[in-house]
Amino acid sequence: MLSQAERWYAFERSVAGFYRWYIARSQELRNWNADLSLNWRELRGDLSDSTMRIVEGYYAVEQFIPDYVSKVLNVIRESYGRSQFYIRWGSEEERHADLWRNVLLFSGRRSEKWLHEYNYRLRGQEWHLPWDEPFRMVFYTVFQERATQVNYLNLGLVAKGEKQIDGADDTDPVLGQACRLIAIDEAAHYNFFLELSRLILYYFPEEGVAAMYDIVKHFMMPAHDIIPDYEEFTMILHRAGVFGLRQHSRDVVQVVLSQFGIEGVKALEAGIRRSRDIPDFHGEFRSGAYLDSMDYGLVEKKVTQLHARVTHFEESFGRHEFDQFEFVENPELTEIAEYQRQQREEHIAPIMEPEDEAAN
Ligand SMILES: [Fe+2]
Ligand SMILES: [Fe+2]
Repeated sequence: MLSQAERWYAFERSVAGFYRWYIARSQELRNWNADLSLNWRELRGDLSDSTMRIVEGYYAVEQFIPDYVSKVLNVIRESYGRSQFYIRWGSEEERHADLWRNVLLFSGRRSEKWLHEYNYRLRGQEWHLPWDEPFRMVFYTVFQERATQVNYLNLGLVAKGEKQIDGADDTDPVLGQACRLIAIDEAAHYNFFLELSRLILYYFPEEGVAAMYDIVKHFMMPAHDIIPDYEEFTMILHRAGVFGLRQHSRDVVQVVLSQFGIEGVKALEAGIRRSRDIPDFHGEFRSGAYLDSMDYGLVEKKVTQLHARVTHFEESFGRHEFDQFEFVENPELTEIAEYQRQQREEHIAPIMEPEDEAAN
């Protein structure tokens, strides 16, 4: 068994390496600018009220980034890798607010004065952490990033003319590009937090499962309680087929859970009920609630792949000559995964492995 100190060192070292890999990739592939990367003069001035209202709502959600960053940083400030990443994350979210603000301004439908006042109205409210425990915030962010990605992809379909809101044709290549740029960022964020949550499950399986369960049971989108007219905003999203309960369940929850080998919320709940002691190699039952609906073999495989990626990255610029990154295996996880494999062979608990999520 790894000691607590060994687990923490292995976890933090992995996160620190992974965030550096993330930054390099972000700078190479997604270094766009909210003002200069789009031809704003070509944005339509006659987009429908509903589409404008959706963009306004997105702008409002992205408006609480100073709170999202500062409050979370406060909780994780001792962790080098996690806090460094969060600062970078904030800088990528910052340009989302700028970009939606440009859509509102260049559409000619909202003035700078209006935006100024709207901002003051929004910032008059304050976002508070839905969970003040870091692992829960990681799982929360996995679902939240996936949900924002789905929102922006679906508004992108409206901009492509493939989806209509209240019968209006809002085809607009500039709006489409805006949606695409942000959705790509959100996909990268989603993938980062997904990998991070797998690292948590790998090194801290019990705490990880409890955190994930809480989030699935109680998830709400950020700032839902502090944005003016939020209900009207969600009604339009629902009417337009951009985002609603169906998308949340099918395109967010199901997709995220499949990344852990869990078939759905029901399987997760049943797994929690069945959480039980699992025998170790010596036939002795260890105490602890492990989730038997989760595929620990899949978590192990993904974490191993992540370590190979970070190792390769660090070797590419010679870092390994000073600090060779080594994957610290967690024997506890290996045992659980092995136990599950045996169970599967006996057809007791068939677990499906999902398709790999496209690399970010
Ligand atoms: Fe964002
Ligand atoms: Fe994001």
